[in-house]
Amino acid sequence: MTMTPNLPAREVLADRRTGRSEEIFLQGRAHTPGGINSFTRALTPPLVISRASGAYIFDADGNRYIDYHAAFGPTILGHCHPAVNQAVVEVISKLDLVGIGSSELELELARKITENVPSAEMVHLCNTGTEATYNAVRLARAVTGKNRLLKFQGCFHGSHDYLCMNVISSADRVGKLDPCSAGMLPQAVNQTLVAEFNDLAEVERLVEKEGENLAAIIVEPIAHNIGCVLPHKSFLEGLRHIASERKVILIFDEVITGFRHALGGYQAVCGVTPDLTTLGKSMANGFPCAALCGKRELMERFSTAGGDVIFAGTYNGNPMSAAASLATIDQLESGEVHEHIFHLGEEMRNALSAIIAQLGAKAFVTGFGSVFVIYFMEPPVNSYADLLRNNSEVDKAFRRELIARGIMVNPFPLKRNHISASHTEADILATLEIIRSSLIKVARD
Ligand SMILES: Cc1ncc(COP(=O)(O)O)c(C=O)c1O
Repeated sequence: MTMTPNLPAREVLADRRTGRSEEIFLQGRAHTPGGINSFTRALTPPLVISRASGAYIFDADGNRYIDYHAAFGPTILGHCHPAVNQAVVEVISKLDLVGIGSSELELELARKITENVPSAEMVHLCNTGTEATYNAVRLARAVTGKNRLLKFQGCFHGSHDYLCMNVISSADRVGKLDPCSAGMLPQAVNQTLVAEFNDLAEVERLVEKEGENLAAIIVEPIAHNIGCVLPHKSFLEGLRHIASERKVILIFDEVITGFRHALGGYQAVCGVTPDLTTLGKSMANGFPCAALCGKRELMERFSTAGGDVIFAGTYNGNPMSAAASLATIDQLESGEVHEHIFHLGEEMRNALSAIIAQLGAKAFVTGFGSVFVIYFMEPPVNSYADLLRNNSEVDKAFRRELIARGIMVNPFPLKRNHISASHTEADILATLEIIRSSLIKVARD
C-alpha cells in the first residue's frame, strides 16, 4: 500500500491496560473452551467486557471503546438503551416465562411486524437467526415436497447443517461445497447448491439443472456477512421471477438488514417481496429475539395452526424479548433513528473515502445506511469472488490497530461496522482521526 502520511496519530495504545482482562480470561479458559462462547469473539490480547453504555463498551481494565462491532449488529439504538431496558424491567416485575398459551406482548409484536414488513402476513417468534432460517427451510421443504436449497457464496444463515457452508471460503474452496464445520451431516450438506451473489445467469443454470428438486432459494438481500456487497436491482427481481416461475420458495434472510435498514427490512427498500423472511438482531436491540414471517398460506402449515410442520421452542415469544422488541420498534417508528444513523453513515463513508484518497491507500469504502466497511482492494465488488482480491493481512492489521486505539470493530477481515442511534458527530470525528492514523501505521509496517 502506498500512502503519504501527513497527520500525527492520537496514540491511545500506550494507555491501554490489559492485565485484569488477561487474569479473568486465563482463569475462565479452564472451564470455557477458548474462554469465549462464539468462535468469532477471540482477541489477542484477550478482552473481558464489563460494561456497555450507548456507543461505548468498557473492558475489565477500564479501557473505553467506541463500538462499531455492535454485537454483530443488534444494538441499533446503542447499548443498554433506557427505554428498552425499562420495558424489560417492567415486564419482569410481573411476568416471566410461562410456556402455556400466549402473552399479549408476543401477539402485539407479531402484529407490528405484519404492519411493517411487506412479506409478513403472519409471524412466528423464536430466539435466534439460526432457529428462524432452520424453520424456514423445513417449512419450504414441507410445502414444496422438495429437498434442495440454493444459497450464495459469502452469505451466512446460522450454524445448522442445512446452510452453514460457503461463507468466507479460501480461494481453492470457491465453486465447491465448503462446509464451515466438521461433523456436519453430508446428506444435508449435499442438498445445498451454492451460486455467486449477483450472478443471475448462474442461478438460472443451477435451477435449470436442479429445478425439479429445489425447495428454496435463500439470500441475504445485501451480502453483509462479507461486509457490504450490494445487490444489483435485477438480481433480487430476477430471483423473485425465477422462484415464482419454478414454484420455489424465496427466503430473504433479513437477520442483519431487518430493522437496521428500514422498519420493513431491505425488502421495503428494494421493492421485492419474498415468500418468507427471517428477522433477528436489531429487532430487540440486543435481547434474544428472532422471527420467521411470510405468506399466510405457508405459515398456516405450522403445527401451531393445526398444520403438519412442527414449530416449538421453550423460549419462543418470551415476554422479556417481546417487550424489548416492542420498545425497540417504538423507538424506530418515528423515523428519527434511521435519519440519524443514515446521516452519520453517509458522513463516515464520505470522510473515509476522502482520507483514503488523500493517503493514496489501495482501499475503498462502501456500505449502506448505518453500515460501513473498508475493503483493501480496488473496486468493483459484485460477489465474493471479487473479494478474494482483498488484502486480508492489511485488513487484519488495520483492525488490530483500531481496537488497540479504542475503536471496537470486528477483528476479522471483510466484516462490517455498525453505527447506532447513540453515536454522535463527535464519536464519528474521533473515529475518523484514529482510522486515519491507523491507516498510516499499517501502511508503514
Ligand atoms: C444473515 C444472518 N442470518 C442468520 C444468522 C444467525 O443468527 P444467530 O446468530 O442469531 O443464530 C446470522 C448471524 O450472524 C446472520 O448474519
